[in-house]
Amino acid sequence: MTTHSEIISRIRSEMGDSLVIMGHHYQNDSVIRHVDLKGDSLELARKVESVQAEHIVFCGVYFMGESAALLAREGQKVYLPEPDANCVMSQMAPAARVDKVLNRLAESGRTIVPLTYVNSSVGVKAVCGKHGGSVCTSANAETMMRWAMDRGDAILFIPDKNLARNTANRLGIPEADWHMLNITKEGNAVDTTAAESARLLLWPGLCAIHARFNLRQIQTARETHAGIRVVVHPECSPEVVAAADAAGSTSFIINYVKQAEEGAAIAIGTEINLVERLAKEYAGRKTIVPLLESSCSHMASVTEDKLSITLQEVQNGTADPVRIPIGFTDHARVALERMLKACA
Ligand code: 13P
Ligand code: SF4
Repeated sequence: MTTHSEIISRIRSEMGDSLVIMGHHYQNDSVIRHVDLKGDSLELARKVESVQAEHIVFCGVYFMGESAALLAREGQKVYLPEPDANCVMSQMAPAARVDKVLNRLAESGRTIVPLTYVNSSVGVKAVCGKHGGSVCTSANAETMMRWAMDRGDAILFIPDKNLARNTANRLGIPEADWHMLNITKEGNAVDTTAAESARLLLWPGLCAIHARFNLRQIQTARETHAGIRVVVHPECSPEVVAAADAAGSTSFIINYVKQAEEGAAIAIGTEINLVERLAKEYAGRKTIVPLLESSCSHMASVTEDKLSITLQEVQNGTADPVRIPIGFTDHARVALERMLKACA
């Protein structure tokens, strides 16, 4: 019987240059081994622009596929093996609510520049583009926060309060200048008076997968392995980031491990697929352990079987490409392009 892996290999060779498979570092090994281009969110967004293939199959969660579809050229199509692969954090910022909150904040007469983490819907990106804002990833949050500060009186950072606070800490924006918004009651509960004195307005979203890392795990890792270093993703809480030795995007974490000397021990606070892959890759040379086995079920919902089925549909012309709702495309693309230009 032909396996899914064999079907994927056959279709890749039959479709040749007309097909490119992209994948995020959190994808399972059984999926990542079929990927032509892998990376963190920023690298993947950048790579889309240089892809010539007509068909892009994107192994990741939906917002990554949406960003790829926005950046794809005329005639190029992007497909997600699992269109329902969501991101819990992105769901914490509904576009209509973000728009409402921005309009309320603008009543003060101050210029509020919205900056959305790429982990957000295309609707939120469109709202940000429309209000003069942009997008950031974990790899360029500092650059983009500076970019936003240069363009207004305050920033509205959506939806990740942890990435926002960790970036503000790096840039030396004091806590006294932050304000956590109350976004309940359809956005009507915002304390506009308190917001007026803040330079950084925080949307109260977070990643449930990264919220599981805590100080106790770091302490246990340090007690268990003498001299161990701890590296975490900046979606972790500021307390965890402060207690770690380093924090950065998924590609930063990969490089951190690569650059560590032979025999080094490193505890990692991010999604388990990436940690296990690194542990396997460096087995016998470096000790790589997870702070906790924390898995993103949405990333894991993309499987080798689904990739195989999507590729068969792409090849026989029945696959459904990612479609961006009419009305969002222009503003959302502008928001993304502002980021790519600022970080060129
Ligand atoms: P990176 O941009 O660092 O790859 O992270 C994406 C993500 O979803 C982290 O949870
Ligand atoms: Fe979203 Fe968190 Fe999964 Fe990343 S790990 S895709 S932020 S839910």
